[in-house]
Amino acid sequence: MLKIRAVVSCALTICLAVVGAQSAVAASQQSAVEQGKKVYQRNCVACHQKDAVGKPGVAPSLINQQFLSTASDQFLVATIAKGRAGTAMTAWGEQLGAKKIKAIITFLSSHTQTPNRSAKVNAEPESMGNAKLGKVWFQSICANCHGIFGQGYAADGSGTAIGGVDFLRLASDGFIRETIKHGRDNTRMRSFSGPAALANLNDSEIDDIISYMRTLRIPEDI
Ligand code: HEC
Ligand code: HEC
Repeated sequence: MLKIRAVVSCALTICLAVVGAQSAVAASQQSAVEQGKKVYQRNCVACHQKDAVGKPGVAPSLINQQFLSTASDQFLVATIAKGRAGTAMTAWGEQLGAKKIKAIITFLSSHTQTPNRSAKVNAEPESMGNAKLGKVWFQSICANCHGIFGQGYAADGSGTAIGGVDFLRLASDGFIRETIKHGRDNTRMRSFSGPAALANLNDSEIDDIISYMRTLRIPEDI
């Protein structure tokens, strides 16, 4: 009887230890999110807004599901550390350092409801589209919000600088393709695929646009 009791209490102790360890992990995750939130609030709210929902013409949303599920850690780290030349998004690498940038990303990622699929998205084939055809689509649809050269807010539109060197260097064709197909919830970037879309572009038309985007250069004097 004593023996059984000892076994039971021993099992209980192990059980409690496991639960304890699990809640310790949850607690440390929670504090990492809190820490990241603080760094975010100190440095990024002025443009990206309190809840990181963004503001048209000022800064994009950093918490919509499409963005969070397709952006890789590398995309986020490099964008925050190096910024985007020619836009209000400056380089934060020196000021914040790697740890604080990682903390911000932990905070932003805590808003995800779907698993990150950036590895799969970035492994999608490169676009083999027709840039000449893409130019017609780009200028008739995308330029309204992103500017004729993809210069973004500088053209007084609501869309970001998708013709900018830093964006084009970091964004894979898969990332751009997914963004065009599915849009970004709660922003002005809508889906461009399917009958309910702003324009129902098929896969090859989307690839034509991507191929054209790869030729974009924003003139320095605008
Ligand atoms: C002065 C305003 C401003 C501040 C402050 C600012 N940003 Fe930005 N951010 C922008 C703008 C504008 C863009 C879009 C640039 C473009 O047109 O490509 C941007 C883009 C981004 C993107 C890319 C989003 C996407 O949709 O691809 C990330 C990530 C980002 N910012 C993170 C941050 C973080 C983290 C901070 C704080 C450390 C921060 N930003 C501070 C203005 C700002
Ligand atoms: C009605 C305005 C509008 C139109 C039209 C539009 N976009 Fe956008 N797009 C946006 C906005 C706004 C964002 C950024 C979302 C945000 O503010 O959070 C965006 C984001 C993007 C991004 C992600 C950029 C980044 O910084 O991460 C890509 C790529 C993109 N759009 C491509 C296109 C293409 C290609 C077209 C044409 C087929 C197009 N968009 C048409 C408004 C628009």
